Amino acid sequence: MKILVVMGTRPEVIKLAPVVAALRRRKGLRTLVCATAQHRELQDQMLKTFDIKPDFDLDLMRKGQSPDAIARRVQASLDPLLARIKPDLVIVQGDTTTAMAAAMCAHKRHIPIAHVEAGLRSHDLENPFPEEGNRVIIDHIATLHFPPTQKAKANLKKEGIKGPGVIVTGNTVVDALRWADKKIKIRPASADAREVLVTFHRRESFGAPLKGIFHALITLVRRHADLVLIYPVHPNPQVRLAAKRWLRHPRIRLVKPLPYLEFLRLMKRVHFLITDSGGLQEESVCLHKPVLVARTVTERPEIIAAGAGKLVGLSQKNLIYWATKLLNDKALHRRMSRAQNPYGDGKASERITSAIALWAIRARRTLLQKCRK
Ligand code: UD1
Ligand code: UDP
Repeated sequence: MKILVVMGTRPEVIKLAPVVAALRRRKGLRTLVCATAQHRELQDQMLKTFDIKPDFDLDLMRKGQSPDAIARRVQASLDPLLARIKPDLVIVQGDTTTAMAAAMCAHKRHIPIAHVEAGLRSHDLENPFPEEGNRVIIDHIATLHFPPTQKAKANLKKEGIKGPGVIVTGNTVVDALRWADKKIKIRPASADAREVLVTFHRRESFGAPLKGIFHALITLVRRHADLVLIYPVHPNPQVRLAAKRWLRHPRIRLVKPLPYLEFLRLMKRVHFLITDSGGLQEESVCLHKPVLVARTVTERPEIIAAGAGKLVGLSQKNLIYWATKLLNDKALHRRMSRAQNPYGDGKASERITSAIALWAIRARRTLLQKCRK
């Protein structure tokens, strides 16, 4: 049984690294990794952290790329690779262009697809764009679906995707966190400053919404003399240039993307988070840090329902209101920090591996029966 795991961006590497490790521990499965390098630097930074040496590197990133151009390059490079190595299963994760385009390539060659983190839905094709469309496409052509929660499984069922190939596993982000936790030593927070972690990179926020959010951040540091914002800036030029231009303040620290362990160390230290990131929403609830989600919708409603996060939208007023409340209202901060993690027990990768091993046995049996006939 030959399995090809395809990844290309920072979050895919983080969430697939525990899956690759679990698959490689299982006898009878041969696991190969193809890195598309949709994110050249961010992907490599994470591959190094998890000590993954890809078997294939498609080296696709171009500065200022569009999702469409990346999709075309994945198609052009991955299709001949699939023809050559003939995997029995292709694994993709999440909703990136890498995941969608790789799934399409596999589909066209009649190779079964397994989708890790299946069933997430914002129910708005424009938000996040193009990710919502990507995950819908992948789920409708995949054979094995690994939704992280019951809610994600229910989303699939509403679209007619059900049966033994849909297995709720928890989110592999918890597996990665558990692995990382053993390696992190926490530095205590400074007594004189309250630190807040900020990240932004979503395409639908570019332009006026991002400028508005940055303006709200400036207002917050001006109003709170002990507030320090730490912002590891995404290398996307649209984000980097906007941050440099609109976030000029001595207590707003713009830093380069941090290695995973360093980033988690920082996350454990800060008072709360302001973000539009998917992965950070999940990690914040796991690490008991309140999170303000600066997006109009989230495909991760479990965090809001658990009480760990507030969906503040892209409104400056809302963001300032909730950040001020979290800074002043200790009881609210405590309540949000104590929310239950809805993403499982850190054994998602083992469940995924067991489901794949079982599927492989059944697929083999079906093939043998066909041959006998
Ligand atoms: C992609 C994902 C998004 C995910 C995000 C994670 C899609 C459709 N979206 O965003 O879901 O949340 O990655 O970060 O796939 N760049 C570099 N070096 C890097 C990475 C990026 O220079 O290591 C720059 C490049 O100029 C690139 C730009 O950032 O053009 C944006 O990268 P891209 O892969 O297009 O990211 P998104 O599609 O915005
Ligand atoms: N992350 C990191 N260093 C950083 C910023 C983020 O290691 O400087 C990690 C973070 O812990 C999370 C993931 O990157 O697991 C989130 O990636 P991103 O926000 O780029 O993508 P998304 O999750 O929104 O798709």
